[in-house]
Amino acid sequence: MSAMLNTPESPVTIGSYIQKGSDLFDQAGLFFGHGTDNAWDESLTLVLFALSLPGDSDSGILERPVSPEEAAVITRLFDRRINERLPAAYLTGEAWFAGFKFSIDQRVLVPRSPIAELIETQFQPWLITPPMSILDLCTGSGCIGIACAHYFPEANVTLSDISTDALAVANKNISLHQLNHRASTVHSDLFAGLGSQRFDLIVSNPPYVDASDLASMPNEYHHEPEIGLASGDDGLDFTRQLLLEAGEHLNEQGVLIVEVGNSWVALETMFPQVPFMWLEFERGGHGVFLITAEQLSTHREEFISS
Ligand SMILES: C[S@@+](CC[C@H](N)C(=O)[O-])C[C@H]1O[C@@H](n2cnc3c(N)ncnc32)[C@H](O)[C@@H]1O
Repeated sequence: MSAMLNTPESPVTIGSYIQKGSDLFDQAGLFFGHGTDNAWDESLTLVLFALSLPGDSDSGILERPVSPEEAAVITRLFDRRINERLPAAYLTGEAWFAGFKFSIDQRVLVPRSPIAELIETQFQPWLITPPMSILDLCTGSGCIGIACAHYFPEANVTLSDISTDALAVANKNISLHQLNHRASTVHSDLFAGLGSQRFDLIVSNPPYVDASDLASMPNEYHHEPEIGLASGDDGLDFTRQLLLEAGEHLNEQGVLIVEVGNSWVALETMFPQVPFMWLEFERGGHGVFLITAEQLSTHREEFISS
């Protein structure tokens, strides 16, 4: 059914279409969390995309009339957003991360990690010297590794993932960002495909959703690959193994930064002696820790027995 059928008066300007979409999304009880956090921004994203207008268009465009052909494209996008519960980013095929645009589709998660904020500040004050080698473990679309490559122009970046589908998207983004000379992908289950390589910095947004959170996730999340979300009962199956193996892939002064979201509570409970440093975010987000190669080595016995 068309989202516009019940409209008493059809919107005529870009602004009125954005407002209409926002109202419809609120009425439909959509979930926002894949690039926007409210109905207005979600509607704005779709309307600007439908009209091939840039995301930073000024407010003057709100009064611009919408042609019947343009209205049909907007309505179709609104319908799909409501009826299929597809996140806007899958409808537009693009997402922004750390100030850069990425091509995405349902083979990868929609980029949204708070790690973007850390990259934009070059992980200051946590990194003493700029890393020359970076691993984005569990790269998905490649957003973290590619953003790191932009912010650390001297670094070589490896992007790894167990999903060949995801790596196809990451490779496309490496090319779009013209980073083929410094960024490459590796097919790898955790570190298995990376041989004995060591890195100055490993950044990872791995699967970390626990079974209870997974069962209660809004429909929008079910369009994302489950392999990118689920990680056992407590959400830590992947992270436990990562903590055990990461030390073997970090240089002496190396640093590991990992997002575990809500599973941070379970991690703290499991390893009370490990000095995870929980990083803070101005733009929101939580559950991202930093640990050094030295600390990983010191606490290795705890990781082995977990
Ligand atoms: C939460 S998504 C993160 C994607 C991307 N880094 C981002 O922030 O948008 C997790 C990714 O981990 C990958 N993954 C899951 N299990 C893995 C494993 N054992 N080894 C390597 N990658 C894995 C999934 O394919 C998925 O692309």
